[in-house]
Amino acid sequence: MLASSEPIVEVRDLTRSFSARKGFLFQEKVETQALQGVDLSVRTGELFGLLGPNGAGKTTLTKILSTLLLPTSGTARVLGYDIHDDVHAIRAHIGLVLGGERGLYNRVSGRENLRYFADLFGLPTGEVSRRIQEVLDLVDLTEAADRRVEEYSRGMKQKLHLARGLLHRPQLLFLDEPTIGLDPRSARDLRKLVRSLSSEGVTIFLTTHYMFEAEELCQRIGILAKGRMIACDTPQGLQRLVGGESTVELESHQFDDSELQRLRNLPGVSRLLQESLGSRLRITLRVRPKEWSSSNLAGGLEAHPDLLVRERRTTLEDAYLDLVEEEVVA
Ligand SMILES: Nc1ncnc2c1ncn2[C@@H]1O[C@H](COP(=O)(O)OP(=O)(O)OP(=O)(O)O)[C@@H](O)[C@H]1O
Ligand SMILES: [Mg+2]
Repeated sequence: MLASSEPIVEVRDLTRSFSARKGFLFQEKVETQALQGVDLSVRTGELFGLLGPNGAGKTTLTKILSTLLLPTSGTARVLGYDIHDDVHAIRAHIGLVLGGERGLYNRVSGRENLRYFADLFGLPTGEVSRRIQEVLDLVDLTEAADRRVEEYSRGMKQKLHLARGLLHRPQLLFLDEPTIGLDPRSARDLRKLVRSLSSEGVTIFLTTHYMFEAEELCQRIGILAKGRMIACDTPQGLQRLVGGESTVELESHQFDDSELQRLRNLPGVSRLLQESLGSRLRITLRVRPKEWSSSNLAGGLEAHPDLLVRERRTTLEDAYLDLVEEEVVA
């Protein structure tokens, strides 16, 4: 069992490779390193988010932690149990929502699906109907509960996956892109539900491609890129990691090298990025607010009658893109 001071998820040097055959006539074996030496600790009660580009290894890590997949090497403990030795103990206390079309029985109703999974989870018989109704209400699927799942829209299936994941009141809930395919209202309701589960003490491990969702929900965020955990911190910590909580954008038709050099050396500037916008160029500066003053910009940019300047908060998306692109270039 888990001592209260122990992390609920503890991952050490985790690696997973896949081998697949490529080509038709002359098949060649290709190895994919989906995870490469990942270390991670998630605290009990934490709302943890995992971000990363397509193919970064997020679903692979989620599947390993929820005992659907074994790692190639390394160790992982979930709720104090080893993922190799204590599969049943882990499964009894975690919920997993992978989403997609698979894993549901299309020919029967949503409620019957839940009844089947309640049996599988070993819920006490006397409690089953009440608990099914509770989770249907939680995900707002009560009206459609007695329709066959094949008639469900993608979003309704996603809600049913979530209802299934909650049936046995898991202590730790894995959500792999939970709001994908949901309409804005349903996505907002789901985020609210995630927050409320978290406030009831459920630990949440969530992957998403929606930066605002991660920023809004997550206390800490890990960024996976090409199978490596390149950063893991609070949203504010990630913004600091890329060198500034403020961002200044300058747009003009052209900036010459000496101007770029001057901007780069202004007090408080920690990073300068360039981006072409068709006929115009955008210079983005990450700046440390305490040292930065926009009055420093004056002088040296007179040659830009068309100059546009915008100052804003550095977002999680900015930090994410800086970190991931740095990794791609490295
Ligand atoms: N069963 C498999 N067989 C072969 N390769 C696999 C398998 N599952 C995953 N991979 C590969 O492992 C890598 C990581 O995949 P994974 O699904 O974990 O990424 P992801 O971060 O979840 O991506 P996405 O954001 O697109 O969901 C990819 O290169 C993928 O092609
Ligand atoms: Mg995935």
